[in-house]
Amino acid sequence: MDAMKDIIIGIDLGTTNSCAAIVEGDNIGIPQVKLIPYKGGEYTIPSVFAIDDKGNELIGYEAKRQWQLNPKNTIYGAKRLVGRSYRSDIVETWQKAVAYAVRPGKKNDVVIDIAKREFSMQEVSAKILNKIRDVASNHLKTPVKRAVVTVPAYFTDRQRQTVKDAGKLVDLEVVRIINEPTAASLAYGVGKRLNERVAVYDLGGGTFDVSIIEIRDRVFEVKATGGDIFLGGLDFDNAILGHVLKDFASKTAIDLSTDPVAMQRIKDLAERTKCDLSAREEVPFNIPFITMTSQGQPLNIEMKFSRKLLEQLTSHLVDRSLQIVAKVLVDSGLSTKDIDEVLLVGGQTRMPVVQDRLTKFFGKSPSKGVHPDEAVAIGAALYAHSLEDDTNLKLQLLDVIPMAIGLEKAGGSFHVVFPRNAAIPNAKQLTATTSYDQQTELAMRIFQGDNEAVTRNELLGEFTFSGIRSDRAGKVQVEVTFDVNVEGILTMHARDPASGKEMQTTVRVTSS
Ligand SMILES: Nc1ncnc2c1ncn2[C@@H]1O[C@H](COP(=O)(O)OP(=O)(O)OP(=O)(O)O)[C@@H](O)[C@H]1O
Ligand SMILES: [Mg+2]
Repeated sequence: MDAMKDIIIGIDLGTTNSCAAIVEGDNIGIPQVKLIPYKGGEYTIPSVFAIDDKGNELIGYEAKRQWQLNPKNTIYGAKRLVGRSYRSDIVETWQKAVAYAVRPGKKNDVVIDIAKREFSMQEVSAKILNKIRDVASNHLKTPVKRAVVTVPAYFTDRQRQTVKDAGKLVDLEVVRIINEPTAASLAYGVGKRLNERVAVYDLGGGTFDVSIIEIRDRVFEVKATGGDIFLGGLDFDNAILGHVLKDFASKTAIDLSTDPVAMQRIKDLAERTKCDLSAREEVPFNIPFITMTSQGQPLNIEMKFSRKLLEQLTSHLVDRSLQIVAKVLVDSGLSTKDIDEVLLVGGQTRMPVVQDRLTKFFGKSPSKGVHPDEAVAIGAALYAHSLEDDTNLKLQLLDVIPMAIGLEKAGGSFHVVFPRNAAIPNAKQLTATTSYDQQTELAMRIFQGDNEAVTRNELLGEFTFSGIRSDRAGKVQVEVTFDVNVEGILTMHARDPASGKEMQTTVRVTSS
């Protein structure tokens, strides 16, 4: 067998940046991880996909470089829409923040139109995965066909499934989905023979995750996890954007929000300003010729931003993340003094106030033990390596589901089958009885979320079990099995306990 064929890389498929890594050999039992560099020596690739006016597809830096001038045909932050129902508050909010066209797809999913072409979220993710794979194949000089891909811990079953499907579209086998904070803990803990409890605070471009993880040498056990799929650097940028728009409107009575090119230029500078303010107290915010007056006079944006102002504009975001940390800590049954290290992951954790607030919260400074941009990809590579390792040095990940999974009961209440933070893999059985004469089908709507009102949760699918023995109401039982695998993905099947016969299962994702 050709050993090179078997390589598995680790991929951090980020909202703003993606990164890949691979283990190349061992050093006295400790796997040596290398990040895969891109052309200029960068280790991350922007998660941006665009089509230019000649119809060329651009991915990564090429796409990001032209987004100011081509905002309507440039997709960024797409991870926020992955595996989402079109009819959700989140999609509605995001739609208003971006220049590309977001539409409902056939399965109550989301599709994006750019350059008169339609892309599903699987396809957009697939474009980015494919680019990373190409970069890796070039660098490693061998075709890469398999990867461990990370997702936010707070991703639902449906979002995880979408990432797996994206891989299939480009013939990249996603051998395992693992959670981003769990991956980061691997980057921190593998090969150190630790016996520690760590809190991973991952504030990236689009999502926030926090996990409390107990590390016992090669065993990484997640005690509790939580997050917000809609809290990340992009929201900090948008807070600056909102302030600039307001300030400009108050000075000129001109609303720039209807001008996509102006908006994109402000967003760009907003992000750079935010990053600069992590190192400096004050920076200028100047954009020449942002628009014109009705008399044709060019107008500029000329402002200053201080770190203080940025902190004021975004304090509600930092507060929200800390509320989630507090809740997850309660869920884990631990208190701050039980936490040995706080790991900072994600570019947005470079903001000084984030670090200060965490230091206050935990009563200790965060660890410098992991690189905020690289830890997740490194952890994915370590896990990929471990999957192929047939010695007894395998890593053991014991993860949990982030939100309850359950079914809709008559009357619209939510019957929880797996509570949040239930360990995975996990299986549960439930026995249902036919409710009318000659019933041959049983349908169940399955949701994921922590809301008591079922429809406030995310619909995972409508499962129909058919081939039920025909008899009078209440005479036939159906034994339904819910299976959540190690990746947090649900499958279901049902059988007739009297005959042992398996029923046929079909799944449909419709509207919620
Ligand atoms: N020095 C800095 N100060 C503040 N923010 C920063 C700094 N450097 C990067 N960021 C922000 O970090 C975010 C990107 O972080 P990262 O690359 O970890 O996200 P991601 O992995 O793409 O997203 P996610 O994990 O949410 O899917 C961006 O919003 C970026 O502006
Ligand atoms: Mg990330």
